[in-house]
Amino acid sequence: MVKLVIAPKGLAGIIVSETGLSHVDGENGKLIYCGYDIEELLNCSYEEICYLLLYGELPNQGQLEIIEDILKTERVVPKFVLDFIANKAKKNHPMAILRSSISMLSVMDYDLENMSENNLKSIGLSLISKTATIAAAICRVRNGLKILPPKRKLGHAANFLQMSKGEQPEDIIARTLDAALVLHADHSFNASTFTNRVVASSLSDLISSITAAIGSLKGSLHGGANTAVMKMLLEIGEVKNVKPWLDQALARKDKIMGFGHRVYKVLDPRAKPLKQMSKEWSERVGNIKWFNISENLEALMREKKGINANVDFYSATTYYAMGIQPEMFTVIFAMARVLGWVAHYIEQMQDNRIMRPVSSYIGPKGKLFMPIQKRK
Ligand code: COA
Repeated sequence: MVKLVIAPKGLAGIIVSETGLSHVDGENGKLIYCGYDIEELLNCSYEEICYLLLYGELPNQGQLEIIEDILKTERVVPKFVLDFIANKAKKNHPMAILRSSISMLSVMDYDLENMSENNLKSIGLSLISKTATIAAAICRVRNGLKILPPKRKLGHAANFLQMSKGEQPEDIIARTLDAALVLHADHSFNASTFTNRVVASSLSDLISSITAAIGSLKGSLHGGANTAVMKMLLEIGEVKNVKPWLDQALARKDKIMGFGHRVYKVLDPRAKPLKQMSKEWSERVGNIKWFNISENLEALMREKKGINANVDFYSATTYYAMGIQPEMFTVIFAMARVLGWVAHYIEQMQDNRIMRPVSSYIGPKGKLFMPIQKRK
C-alpha cells in the first residue's frame, strides 16, 4: 500500500528523484555539473559540456573532436522545417515556432523507439545541433532576412551567430555566447526538465519530451523571464525612473522579472558572470544605459525586498547588447538547455518508473445523472 503524502504547492522542497547530472546548492549559491563547479566550467566550450553531461566526464582532445564533428555534421535541418519557419516565424511566438519545428523532426529517420543509451546520445546530439540551426533560422526570418546555411568550420556558438547575423562573429562575441550557453546547459529539476522527465517516464520518445520541455520553458516564470526582463527595462526607460517604477510595481504586488528563485537563498551563481558579461558588452557597444538601469534595479530589489537577481536578469542585457531581439532570448535559453533535457531523458531511462502522483479531489460527489434529453 502506498502511503499518501500531501506535497506543498508547487512541489516546493520535495525531492522527486535522484540525478548525477547537476546540483543546485541553494544555501551556498553553487551550481555543479557532474561534480565540477560552474565557475570552473566557464573555461570550457559548450561542446565540452555536451560531452560532460552525456558521458559524465570532461573530454580529452580526441573525444572533444568527435563531439565537435558530430555537432557540425548534424546541423542541417530538413527543407520542410525551414519552409515552415520561413512562412510562419515572422508573426508567431518564436518559442511556438521552435517547439513545432523540433516536433516536426519526429518524421526524420531517427529510431525514436530504440531506448539504448548509444542511440539516445546520437539522436540527442543531432537535436542539440539542429536546435541551434532552427534558432538561427527563426532569428533571420523575424528580421526579414533569408535563412542561411551552417558553416562547418565554426564552433557551435560561432556558427549560430554567423547563421543568425550573416557575418562571422569576432572571437570575443562567440566566446561570450558560448559561456552563456554553458551557464544555461542544465539546472537540476527546474520546471522544464521535470516536464521532460515526466514525459520520458511514460516511455514516450525523446522528441516528445523535448517538445514538452520547450512548452514549459516558454512561460515567464521560467525561461520566458529573460524576454520579460528586457521588456521591463525598456518600459522603465531611464535610470531616474527605476525607483518610482519599482515602488509602483511592488505596491501592485507585481512579480519583478529576473528576480527570485525557488532554490537559491543567496545570489544565483550564474548571475555574477552574466552581470560581468552584460557590463563588458554594454561598454563595448557604447550603450551602458540598460546595464545601469539593471544595476539600479538590482540594488533596490535587494534593499526593499531582500531578493536577488537570477540567471535571466543579466542575460537579458547581455543578449540585447549583442544585438539579439528580446523575443529571441528564450529561444537561446532553449538552445542551451536542450542538452540538459537530453541528458535527463537518458538518465530517466536508466532507472525509470512512471511519474504518476495523485490529486486530492475537491469537486462535488453524488450528483444525480440526467440523460441528455432531460438536461436543462
Ligand atoms: N518580485 C517580487 N517579489 C517576489 C519575486 C519577484 N520576482 N519573487 C519572489 N517574490 C516574493 C513573493 O511575492 C513572495 O512574497 P510573500 O511571501 O510576501 O508572498 C516570496 O517572495 C516567495 O515568492 P514565491 O512566488 O512564492 O516563490 P516561488 O519559489 O514560488 O517562485 C519564482 C519562484 C522564480 C517563480 C519567483 O521568484 C518569480 O516569479 N520570479 C520572477 C520570474 C523569474 O524571474 N523567473 C525566472 C526564474 S530563474
